Amino acid sequence: MGKLSVKYLGLDLRSPLIVSSSRLTSNLAHLKEAEEFGAGAVVLKSLFEEQIDHYIHTIPDSTGYPEADDYISNYMRSNTVDEYLDLIRSAKESLSIPVIPSINCYSSGGWTGFAKNIAEAGADALEINVFFLPVDRKKSAAESEKIYLELIEKLKKTIRIPVVVKIGFRFSNILNIIDQFYVRGVSGVVMFNRFYEPDIDLNKIDIVPAKIFSTESEMRYVLRWIGMASAQDIKIYISASTGVHSGSDAIKYILAGAHSVQVCSVLYEKGLKYLVNMNREIEEWMDQKGFTSVNDFRGRLNYRNYSKPVIYERTQFMKYFATED
Ligand SMILES: Cc1cc2nc3c(=O)[nH]c(=O)nc-3n(C[C@H](O)[C@H](O)[C@H](O)COP(=O)(O)O)c2cc1C
Repeated sequence: MGKLSVKYLGLDLRSPLIVSSSRLTSNLAHLKEAEEFGAGAVVLKSLFEEQIDHYIHTIPDSTGYPEADDYISNYMRSNTVDEYLDLIRSAKESLSIPVIPSINCYSSGGWTGFAKNIAEAGADALEINVFFLPVDRKKSAAESEKIYLELIEKLKKTIRIPVVVKIGFRFSNILNIIDQFYVRGVSGVVMFNRFYEPDIDLNKIDIVPAKIFSTESEMRYVLRWIGMASAQDIKIYISASTGVHSGSDAIKYILAGAHSVQVCSVLYEKGLKYLVNMNREIEEWMDQKGFTSVNDFRGRLNYRNYSKPVIYERTQFMKYFATED
């Protein structure tokens, strides 16, 4: 067991750094590189619920002849989905780090049965990236959240590998939704996803995509919730995501209580090799501070362990200045 090794979802990771779902994890060559440069695990590029639906609906009803059914279903399969299952199998054969496939979904519809194929292909866990834009003003927040819970219940009946839910931070009560995941058997939560957002180009007077890659400053939206979620009395693994651009950023999330830290934008910008620097930076800091394992400092500054938990509760700058006077 190396100094950086951690447990995540019950799996042994040699480093807390995970290459998060994106094009960087969409083929075997990249996955091998991620392993070579020190990733603790990889989350594969997401398959979309729509792709799975398409795959399921192109398989016609049974002909009554099993051999013919096999032939037809094989013939009709969408390449993308088959390629995805092949990627899981080949990644499992070639890599020794955990391989976590991912599905982008927005409903608890018919796709969930497909999770079985993912588990059978050898996946170590399944990450589901759930998001739908709540644009129906007649639908309450509770009704929208029900979709997450139904989906999780269906998945838990279908597969035995750990299920991880990647969420956005726009919940009325994040700690409550995580608690509801936990009681339904979810093993981990990724906090948080970063979505495609619109921006406005003033020259063209047009809507354009906002910046695709994150900046370090976005960590400010995440840190509080990692600090608070990790202090709850529940056994759920937390993977931090958004804004990690250095080993120091990863250390901050771990101090706040994350079990693992996902990295994406900075690896697009600097290449997968940058993982070497990040791991080195974490190790050097640990040496300086006299920590021999990541567990020595994980959660040290979370809501429960920090001497002044009120810091986590502060939201208004006015209050901050008033109490500092
Ligand atoms: C180009 C690009 C593609 C992405 N594709 C996916 C995806 O397929 N599934 C997913 O769950 N997240 C996807 N993400 C989100 C990342 O996994 C990550 O959660 C997000 O970028 C925040 O991490 P970062 O600040 O390190 O970039 C993508 C991000 C980028 C920049």
